[in-house]
Amino acid sequence: MVMSTAWQVVEYPDGEVLGEQFALTEMELPDVADGHVLVRNTWTSVDPGLRLRLRPSAPSGYFAAFPLRRPMDGILTVGVIEQSRAEGFPVGSCVWHSYGWRSHAVVDPGKAAMNGLASLRVLDLKRAPAQAYLGPLGGMGLTAYAGLHVIDALDGAGTLWVSAAAGAVGSLVCQIAKFSGLRVVASAGTDEKVAWLRNDIGVDAAFNWRAGPLEESLRAVAPEGLDFYFDNVGGTHLEAALEAMNNNGRVSLCGSISDYEREAVGPRNLFLATSKNLTLRGFRGSAHAPLLDIMQERLAPWLADGRLAYRESIYEGLESAPAALADMMAGRTVGKTMIRI
Ligand SMILES: NC(=O)c1ccc[n+]([C@@H]2O[C@H](COP(=O)([O-])OP(=O)(O)OC[C@H]3O[C@@H](n4cnc5c(N)ncnc54)[C@H](OP(=O)(O)O)[C@@H]3O)[C@@H](O)[C@H]2O)c1
Repeated sequence: MVMSTAWQVVEYPDGEVLGEQFALTEMELPDVADGHVLVRNTWTSVDPGLRLRLRPSAPSGYFAAFPLRRPMDGILTVGVIEQSRAEGFPVGSCVWHSYGWRSHAVVDPGKAAMNGLASLRVLDLKRAPAQAYLGPLGGMGLTAYAGLHVIDALDGAGTLWVSAAAGAVGSLVCQIAKFSGLRVVASAGTDEKVAWLRNDIGVDAAFNWRAGPLEESLRAVAPEGLDFYFDNVGGTHLEAALEAMNNNGRVSLCGSISDYEREAVGPRNLFLATSKNLTLRGFRGSAHAPLLDIMQERLAPWLADGRLAYRESIYEGLESAPAALADMMAGRTVGKTMIRI
């Protein structure tokens, strides 16, 4: 019999995520049935999207809410196969799957997970280290790539603003856009993140969104106006972008993290989308799973030869997961936030 240590949600947060809203439990796993594998998890992901599921029901169309006092399923996770009764998934292979925030899982390779993105998949460690599949070669890379793709920015010309640009998705968006020939301006919430964006990520200009009014900061870095906006934040950031957009501009609505722990504000100037002939395009990375291979082909060589700057905020041990989520939501992490189990 194999036991798994697993986090459960005890109580949904009203506002900020706190450690006491979760409990670390021991659960007995089922025997490894024919066609299934047992995975020992080594890395699991910490994403803003988890916060959207820490409530009785998640936003319509999104991944399901985490039920109380049940293991938290539907989190992209990397591990090593310890027992296998499934062809094509040998013992010792590094894989990803969706049974996260736990130490072990029995996985059915035939079961589609997270819109098919997180179905059991063998990972190529010659291409990149295992945890890169939670970052640039996984859902983060796919989201960055798909979000630029859906607004036709990959072959575009002009100025792009990326918000939450020092985060997992944002830092990749900045670089893919730069390599595609766009002028990139970026914002983040600390001077240290802004320096990283300027010096290592290689954006054309960057500012600290906490340091002054967004409209003024945007005018300073993009006096020519914005042709594209990659929105990770929503609320007042989206409102400022609508003001700064040029006619026929295109906005990729990736996320709205400023709303996840508090009541939504704005945008109050949505009519500008009409008056300026803007395109606002919401999207889910997982809805573009067919772009995964194309994205990996493009990003893996940049990662291997060091052209792609990449940072990880690694928390040690499964027990650190709630604290990692709280830190990420509060802007205390840089790059991809993850747990080494
Ligand atoms: N559409 C999709 O399929 C998809 C997939 C993955 C992620 N997302 C979305 O993409 C966004 C970024 O996700 P990520 O995984 O890359 O997270 P992340 O950027 O690594 O971490 C979140 C960052 O958001 C910023 N933030 C938090 N509260 C904020 C606020 N009130 N105003 C401005 N910035 C705030 C903080 O950075 P600062 O210190 O810089 O403020 C924080 O570090 C999120 O909105 C997420 O939901 C969407």
